Amino acid sequence: MDEDYAAEVGSTALGVAMARALEHARSGRLVADPLAGRFLAEAGITVPDPAGVPADSGVTYVAVRTRYFDDYFRAAMAAGIRQVAILAAGLDVRAQRLGWPDGTVLFEVDQPRMHEFKQRVLDAAGARARCARHAVDADLRGDWAAGLAAAGFDAGKPTAWLLEGLVQYLPAAAEEELAETVHALSAPGSMLSAEYVHGWEFEEMRDDPLFAEAAERYGVDIIDLWNIEPRRDLAKWLDTVGWTVTTEEATEVSARLGRPLVSGMDAIMGRSLLFSALREG
Ligand SMILES: C[S@@+](CC[C@H](N)C(=O)[O-])C[C@H]1O[C@@H](n2cnc3c(N)ncnc32)[C@H](O)[C@@H]1O
Repeated sequence: MDEDYAAEVGSTALGVAMARALEHARSGRLVADPLAGRFLAEAGITVPDPAGVPADSGVTYVAVRTRYFDDYFRAAMAAGIRQVAILAAGLDVRAQRLGWPDGTVLFEVDQPRMHEFKQRVLDAAGARARCARHAVDADLRGDWAAGLAAAGFDAGKPTAWLLEGLVQYLPAAAEEELAETVHALSAPGSMLSAEYVHGWEFEEMRDDPLFAEAAERYGVDIIDLWNIEPRRDLAKWLDTVGWTVTTEEATEVSARLGRPLVSGMDAIMGRSLLFSALREG
């Protein structure tokens, strides 16, 4: 993986951690993530006073998306799935945060430097996974399936997959290949959930001052990092190969959770699609 790509896409994980640290500090929070602030501290980033952060700065969007996927995993556990694969896990600490049933095996795929950084903080915090957790070093634009198999992934068992904050960084061809690999590795009964930002008017948004403000606040210019090549619609494709897909716009999910995404960055990001899919047995 080239250095620039690794550093740039890696920094986005800190932006997400910032949003989760701010949400954690909020009363009535959708997600508790006490480790998010530890990652930022290790990176030398100060979490601002939440009172000074605009209410519609995109933090609520990240909180809504995080909670949506937390609920997805709870549903997958309730359905009896005991194998989990989080692609581009970044600073996701669901292995430590969620109450996984006995026998759950969870794989986190990301770049090596992300895993090193994360492990250092987890060790310092004494944070223990509540399942069997395996960190898999791989480039998700290449042959990541081999690393997953070497870590003990069993394609014969149903898996709950997660693609959160990932596909927007991938070239179109890499996204398509990744989707095909996930499909090939999914036993009947597998589930998949994803965040999908494509389909927006990216060029229009690039000029929106809100993105410049967010870039300043989080130290990451996400629009600049997103890969805006046109691509096949992931949810529609899954539907054609035997998955039952349920898609919602993040704004709808947010209304359901009682934290509507109505203005500013929240409203813009709220146009993202969140979907969950089941591969029928
Ligand atoms: C925005 S963060 C999202 C992290 C996590 N899913 C979350 O929502 O907190 C993007 C993550 O994707 C990872 N990533 C992006 N492209 C990748 C690639 N080609 N191979 C491996 N990891 C990649 C980055 O290292 C980073 O951790």
